[in-house]
Amino acid sequence: MSSSTSLLIRRARIILPDGEFMIGDVLTRDRFIVEVAPEIFTDQTAIREIDAEGLILLPGVIDPQVHFREPGLEHKEDLFTATCACAKGGVTSFLEMPNTRPLTTTQQALDDKLQRAQNKCLVNYGFFIGATAEILPDLLLANPTPGIKIFMGSMHGQLLVDQQEVLEAIFAKGKRLIAVHAEDQARINQRRQEFAGIHDVAVHSQIQDNQAALLATQQVLKLSEKYQRRLHILHMSTAEEAELLRQHKPSWVTAEVTPQHLFLNTSAYEKIGTLAQMNPPLRSPHDNEVLWQALHDGVIDFIATDHAPHTLEEKAQPYPNSPSGMPGVETSLPLMLTATAQGRCSVAQVVNWMSTAVAKAYGIPNKGAIAPGYDADLVLVDLQTYRPVLREEILSKCGWSPFEGWNLTGWPAYTIVGGEIVYEKGKLHTQVRGQALTFT
Ligand code: DOR
Repeated sequence: MSSSTSLLIRRARIILPDGEFMIGDVLTRDRFIVEVAPEIFTDQTAIREIDAEGLILLPGVIDPQVHFREPGLEHKEDLFTATCACAKGGVTSFLEMPNTRPLTTTQQALDDKLQRAQNKCLVNYGFFIGATAEILPDLLLANPTPGIKIFMGSMHGQLLVDQQEVLEAIFAKGKRLIAVHAEDQARINQRRQEFAGIHDVAVHSQIQDNQAALLATQQVLKLSEKYQRRLHILHMSTAEEAELLRQHKPSWVTAEVTPQHLFLNTSAYEKIGTLAQMNPPLRSPHDNEVLWQALHDGVIDFIATDHAPHTLEEKAQPYPNSPSGMPGVETSLPLMLTATAQGRCSVAQVVNWMSTAVAKAYGIPNKGAIAPGYDADLVLVDLQTYRPVLREEILSKCGWSPFEGWNLTGWPAYTIVGGEIVYEKGKLHTQVRGQALTFT
C-alpha cells in the first residue's frame, strides 16, 4: 500500500479509549492509526484530508452476529450487498453465522467463505464454524474462526444440536469459544402443536416463549460451568435470562442483545406483521426495559444485529411459512446513537457495546479504540441531523427494514476501513476491501 492512502481527519470530536472526548486530528497510515492529537502537523504530500468539524469520530462498529447468506442463498443477500450495507451503517467488521449452503461446518467451507470475502467484502470479516450432532473434526481445528456456533433451537437439519449428550461432548472437548442460540427445541415443538393452525404471526412469541429461551440458557450455563468452557449467549431476549445471569455470571461467560430486542416488542406485529418475526422472537415492553438495564449493568456485554435478511416475497407468506429474521447492519448505530440523544445511554457506552467490548470478548487484536497502533477502522457520525429510515435507501439486498419511518440521528457521514474511505456522504467506494479478522 502506498503512503498516498494516508488519511488526516481534522477537527473531529474524537472519543478516546477512556470514554472522554477530545476535539482534534487523527492521522492514519498503512491501515493503522499513527497519531491522535489536538492538532497534527505533517509534511506528507498527497495526503487525503477530511474536515470533520461538527462530526464525532468513533471506532468502527464490530457486529458479532450476522447472516450474510453467501454461499447458497444469494437471492436474499450476498457478501457484496451486505458489506455495502455495513459501510453505510458504520460497521467495519462482522462475524458471520454458518447457516449458509453448504453449511460452514468444515475447513473447506470456511476457506471458501474466506476466499469469497477477500474478493467481495468492503469491510473486515470472520466466520463461525457450525456444530452438528456428528461433531466433525474441523469443529475443533478450523481456523481462523471466532468460535463454534450451536443452534440449540429454531433450526432444522444438521445444524440443530439439541441433545444433551451431544452438547456435553462439544463442551467437553477443546477450548474455543462456544456461541449459543439458546431456545429449547422440545418446548418449541410442543407449543407448535398447541398453537397449530393459528396464522396470526403474534403467536410466534407465544410458541417460542420466554420459557423456551430460559430453559436453553439455563442448560448451557450449567454446561459452561461444568467444563469451565468459554460461552457466549447470542441475542439474549428475555427478562428471565437477564435475571438468571444477574444472579450468577461466571467470568468466562458473555452475552449480547440485538437492537430489535431493545427497541421493538410484540406490539410490532400489529404494525409490520411478519417483518417483525425473528428468532428468538420479540418480547414484551417489560423485557425491553430489563434488557436495557442489564446492558447498563454489564450483565449483557455487547450488541449484535443478527442481520438476517429475507425477501419481501418470502416474508409475505402467511405464518408459519414466513421465515424468521430481520436486516440490521444499516440501522444499528443510528438507533443506538438516537438512544444517546434521548438520554438512554452515553456515546461512550455505545462505543463500548458496539466495538470495544466485542473486540475484547472475541480476542480481536488492535480494534475497538482510537489510539496509535490500532487499526484505522473508523466512523464519523453526525449527531446533529435527523433522517428517517427509508425503504428506497436500504442497501441490503432484501430491500426493507423493520425500522422504516423511524427518525434517527447519528448516521455515518464517513466510514473508514483499514485507513481507506469506504463510505462518504451517501457514496460507496466499492473498490475498498476489508481483511480477514484474527482471533487470539
Ligand atoms: O430470526 C432468525 N433468523 N434467527 C436466527 O437465528 C437465524 C436467522 C436466519 O438465518 O434467518
